[in-house]
Amino acid sequence: MKKVLVLYYSQTGQLKNVIDSFISKLPDEEISVHVRVIEPVERYPYPWKYYEFTDEFPEAVHMDGCEVKEMECLDDYDLIILGYTIWFLSPSSPVVGFLKTEQAKKLFYNKPVITVIACRDMWVMAQEKMKILLDALGAKLIDNVALTDQGKGIYSFITTPRWLLSGKKDAFWIFPPAGILQSDIEKASRFGARLNSALKCDKEIDGKPLLSGLGAVDVNGKLIAAEKIATRSSNIWAKIIKLCGKKKSLGRRVGMSVYSAFLVVLVFTVVPISMLLRKIANIFQEEKLRELEKKYERPSGK
Ligand SMILES: Cc1cc2nc3c(=O)[nH]c(=O)nc-3n(C[C@H](O)[C@H](O)[C@H](O)COP(=O)(O)O)c2cc1C
Repeated sequence: MKKVLVLYYSQTGQLKNVIDSFISKLPDEEISVHVRVIEPVERYPYPWKYYEFTDEFPEAVHMDGCEVKEMECLDDYDLIILGYTIWFLSPSSPVVGFLKTEQAKKLFYNKPVITVIACRDMWVMAQEKMKILLDALGAKLIDNVALTDQGKGIYSFITTPRWLLSGKKDAFWIFPPAGILQSDIEKASRFGARLNSALKCDKEIDGKPLLSGLGAVDVNGKLIAAEKIATRSSNIWAKIIKLCGKKKSLGRRVGMSVYSAFLVVLVFTVVPISMLLRKIANIFQEEKLRELEKKYERPSGK
């Protein structure tokens, strides 16, 4: 009997739906699946108030992680599926918090791990951070699946924050509904079906990807540079905002307001100019972009 552990933290239930679909064709008489939800000691709000949302920024960016409840009835597993969402270009604080516990050290050591991401559409740098966390635990990342919101780019920049700050997910004006397409969520069952047959042939032991050729991820090379710049800049701002004060303090609110104003100015000045310049530059580096896409699409590939 093969044993699979599924761990995740989902706030609105979207990642939960992805995980439910993912594992729907996985268990049978030869494969048991144990699902455990990561629970923060202090619950995060949903919908978020603006300052509650921004208050999490420095800790999320620096991957401090939050305190999480200890899990009960855990076993020794053949494979771990770790579902996580992205918070400010980093793995979400509850998942980071869990990966820093003694329990995670015992569970993950020497185990094959499949990461499953459900987010707006910027996950590439967060997955690089996740690789460092998994490496530190001695785990072996063998696959990564990433599902992103419908209405890519500019649309989800509006629809995702609207959803998280108001609870409204519906389509409005020229904007599509927030979140991942229901059909994409349903189609995630193909991964569990593949895993079911792979586990029966002991393929997880080889340390090679099991989900290749299923469209597990789709990296947009043109977004990578923007993600790298945003990651570097938010690291610096997170340091500054931490110096302004602790969570919920007035100092932090002031720091976060200055940062928000800086972002607005950036979006209307530097961003359009740099987008135009990058568009021109991209014409001459198609080859390099494809290489980058391949690099960040590993291990599972497109
Ligand atoms: C505090 C916070 C920050 C977020 N930052 C990002 C981000 O940087 N990139 C991204 O693609 N999605 C981001 N999201 C969206 C989440 O990754 C995810 O799609 C959404 O929170 C729904 O996930 P759920 O299953 O936990 O409800 C953020 C969400 C929250 C709550």
